[in-house]
Amino acid sequence: MKFKSTISTVLVTGGAGYIGSHTTLLLLQAGYDVVVLDNFVNSKPEALRRVAEIAAREPEIIKGDIRDSDLLDQLFRNFSIFAVIHFAGLKAVGESVTNPLTYYENNVCGTVSLLQAMTRANVTRIVFSSSATVYGDPASVPIREDFPLKATNPYGATKLYIEEILRDIYRSEPHWRIAILRYFNPAGAHDSGMIGEDPCGVPNNLIPYIAQVAVGKLSELSIFGSDYDTHDGTGVRDYIHVMDLAEGHLAALNALETLSLITCNLGTGIGYSVLDMVNTFSEVSGKPIPYRISNRRLGDISQCYTDPTHARNTLNWKAGRGLTQICGDHWRWQLKNPNGYKLE
Ligand code: NAD
Ligand code: UD1
Repeated sequence: MKFKSTISTVLVTGGAGYIGSHTTLLLLQAGYDVVVLDNFVNSKPEALRRVAEIAAREPEIIKGDIRDSDLLDQLFRNFSIFAVIHFAGLKAVGESVTNPLTYYENNVCGTVSLLQAMTRANVTRIVFSSSATVYGDPASVPIREDFPLKATNPYGATKLYIEEILRDIYRSEPHWRIAILRYFNPAGAHDSGMIGEDPCGVPNNLIPYIAQVAVGKLSELSIFGSDYDTHDGTGVRDYIHVMDLAEGHLAALNALETLSLITCNLGTGIGYSVLDMVNTFSEVSGKPIPYRISNRRLGDISQCYTDPTHARNTLNWKAGRGLTQICGDHWRWQLKNPNGYKLE
């Protein structure tokens, strides 16, 4: 996919994280100047060093917090930023149930702080990382953007509240340009194997868990339930390659040239089960993935995949990478970096 290359500066909050680092790379490659603001609470500077190595261009890196208003004002003064891509946030569902205030503080108050600073600086263009979790347990699949919204945990609630805040801003200030992107299940890595997802501790999400079983760091996968109403009884999700997702952000920036308020699901439109993922990962890696069936995980839903039509029409974008590439690229990253970004 080709994007218009403009020499303009984009502020990427959370740009050292999993999705942010891949998007920063694409922005640099497309000719944008990038300022990354990240407090590294869930990422490492090494990710950005590698982004710069692949792109042969460096982003400006500011270590700091989106809740720091003075820092934000300084940053908007020092760089001529025309748009913000806002990834910064905490994302562990279980942790959000245990520490809800931490999540509301960081995600909601942090976003309000960012939006206030943007208002002061007269920067009114933002792309926001929302999540398919805002649909709660959908009545049917595939999921369209006009389905009812419902939060089922504090993490999901932060995404929903931020979406509402953005819609309220647009109602009161219609000159703002806002893209709300609801991600399905990001997976995979850049095909260099140099950047990828680096979860802290034992992964919660399926693909990083499978990858660590394949590489021998974990002994077996627990499959959370085999009695769902799906083709093989295990949970079905819409796994989207992180590079497709990153491209979706550039497409959204482009679409904001003409559109004012965009809300799009970013997924492939295809649902795969846990067993589909285990089998494909095993084939691609040539490694057995031992597993056992255990109880359902509290809060899990049976099936979740998007109807990709609206994103295709609105963003002129679609996810082109398939399951084999997702697993292959994730495996290459895992194999080359068994300890993630930790430098031995
Ligand atoms: P990530 O944790 O890898 O990246 C988030 C980045 O934000 C990290 O680098 C972290 O250090 C930074 N950060 C957090 N709070 C901050 C703060 N107050 N100030 C400055 N930096 C801060 O997560 P990711 O997977 O790249 O996700 C990016 C965004 O997309 C998040 O908002 C997440 O909720 C959302 N999202 C992720 C998924 C997923 O499965 N990965 C799915 C849907 C939505
Ligand atoms: C999780 C989050 C969701 C978030 C999404 C993408 C929860 C309850 N939900 O959803 O808010 O938007 O990630 O980041 O955490 N599975 C196993 N064994 C495992 C791990 C997962 O069987 O060890 C199964 C799950 O039951 C599910 C599928 O694999 O059917 C995918 O799980 P996961 O990667 O955690 O994503 P989601 O459940 O979609």
